[in-house]
Amino acid sequence: MKLPFRILVVDDEATTLALISEQLREAGYETEAASSGEEAIQKARQSRFEFVVTDLSMPGMDGMELLAYFMKNHPETYVIMLTGFGTIATAVEAMKQGAFDYLAKPAKTDEILLVLKRAEEMMLLKAENDLLRSQLKERYCFDKIIGKSEPMQAIYRMIERVARTDSTVLITGESGTGKELIANALHYNSERKDKPFVPINCGAIPEELLESELFGHEKGSFTGAYRERLGRFELAHQGTIFLDEIGEMSYKLQVKLLRFLQEKKFERVGGTRTVQVDTRIVAATNKDLEKLVAEGAFREDLFYRLNVIPIRVPPLRERTEDIPLLAQHFLKQHSQQKDILMKKISRAALAAMQNYLWPGNVRELENAIERLVILTEGDEIQLDDLPERMCQRQAKPNFSSIGLEDNGIDLKGTLEDLENNLILEALKKAGGVKNQAAKLLGLNRTTLIEKMKKKKLTYPGLFTE
Ligand SMILES: Nc1ncnc2c1ncn2[C@@H]1O[C@H](COP(=O)(O)OP(=O)(O)OP(=O)(O)O)[C@@H](O)[C@H]1O
Ligand SMILES: [Mg+2]
Repeated sequence: MKLPFRILVVDDEATTLALISEQLREAGYETEAASSGEEAIQKARQSRFEFVVTDLSMPGMDGMELLAYFMKNHPETYVIMLTGFGTIATAVEAMKQGAFDYLAKPAKTDEILLVLKRAEEMMLLKAENDLLRSQLKERYCFDKIIGKSEPMQAIYRMIERVARTDSTVLITGESGTGKELIANALHYNSERKDKPFVPINCGAIPEELLESELFGHEKGSFTGAYRERLGRFELAHQGTIFLDEIGEMSYKLQVKLLRFLQEKKFERVGGTRTVQVDTRIVAATNKDLEKLVAEGAFREDLFYRLNVIPIRVPPLRERTEDIPLLAQHFLKQHSQQKDILMKKISRAALAAMQNYLWPGNVRELENAIERLVILTEGDEIQLDDLPERMCQRQAKPNFSSIGLEDNGIDLKGTLEDLENNLILEALKKAGGVKNQAAKLLGLNRTTLIEKMKKKKLTYPGLFTE
């Protein structure tokens, strides 16, 4: 079925106007006729047109001015210019200004229809593209990872792109940001998904044991090694090994790991036989590895070998728009698990959660919701139900003590903090009434709102515009 495309035909010559309108109607378009630029604008204000076919030279407002109007006010409308003899240069200019195409007058019906056909295709293509982009934009989760913020979308795109490769991935981010979840997603979205995903926490195992955990050992290689044992690298053959807390690995083991990364080969502890496996490596750390490299605690060559594909997971406070979504998700999950009727979260409680800094990131949020599911009595979680620390902003710095340290000061950051704190304090004093808070700060209301938006500042219980 053909879409009812609407065309506005504009020409000061009554006969041409009638002729073109008639031909286009016959071809199945819906048309409107305007005998001047001014009339065209009037019609465009009243209804939407997909296309405009306009004469270039007209008394009063000419085609170029009309084009400029459409580019500014209805950029989605395609303008096709009809040019008289000797105005080719202007026609080219019109194209530069955004006209879709131009035709020399008198234009044959076929020619006009051909140009319109192309414009239609272009329009559909663009619509399709926009739709795809908006679907991408509105991705609320990937696998078990929840989040719609731009940084999370970027992470989803990254996982999609690199899961199928064998490249080594280094995931960095504070504790509880979801690094392990991402490592899982990398494995389960790869062709290795039917083979093992083998996680190992390099920080939780004493150094002496870690080597044999990772690389295995031969019988009798050390006291207690009664039989040969396969290491995690071998267990993860054709699968993925997840080296968690890689920053904790000792220097000696770093050397062995580096060799594996370079040659895919190693010897078991106490053995001489070389073992070769096909294991994909995903590593994670909440440490600043580059800093460890600078301090000499982490091998630089190993860092570069691991950091082939870096994925940085931002802390939760940098993606506050994910907080309601995550809260809802955990609320549902824990209510179902405990067979408790799912409660609602009041707007004030949600605002406080978005305001809180979440040092423990998503893990802390999940634990908080789990507790709220059990402990909240009513059917809605209120501000009062939240732990006290969530209802207040972090402690205010003592301004009089801010001085220039020997090694300098982060002036921008300090001023930013100062401003944020004063805004929040004013809001608190004003009981959340923005108008009053603005007065306390000597700002006008719109400036305050703009600042709050820019800084993503919210205040519990604040909903009055
Ligand atoms: N985006 C998310 N969507 C849903 N659940 C999440 C998300 N991020 C984290 N979680 C959950 O939060 C908890 C902590 O996540 P995870 O163990 O992946 O964090 P981590 O970065 O590995 O932390 P650590 O550095 O402490 O090991 C897990 O229960 C995980 O399922
Ligand atoms: Mg982890």
